[in-house]
Amino acid sequence: MEDIEICHCNGIMKSEIVKAIKEKGLKTLEEVQDATEAGTVCGGCVDDIEEILKEVNG
Ligand code: FES
Repeated sequence: MEDIEICHCNGIMKSEIVKAIKEKGLKTLEEVQDATEAGTVCGGCVDDIEEILKEVNG
């Protein structure tokens, strides 16, 4: 998997988001925001977070 920075405001990498989703069983954008702080500032990365959720959870 290519690791890229998803949330530029908080410097959160894709690998961190994927890890949190898998380890904590996250299902929603809100849960990812709470767990990682990605997507909590400008909101510009929330579509990417939704994509990652779909990718990991199917
Ligand atoms: S890029 Fe993620 S909140 Fe701004």
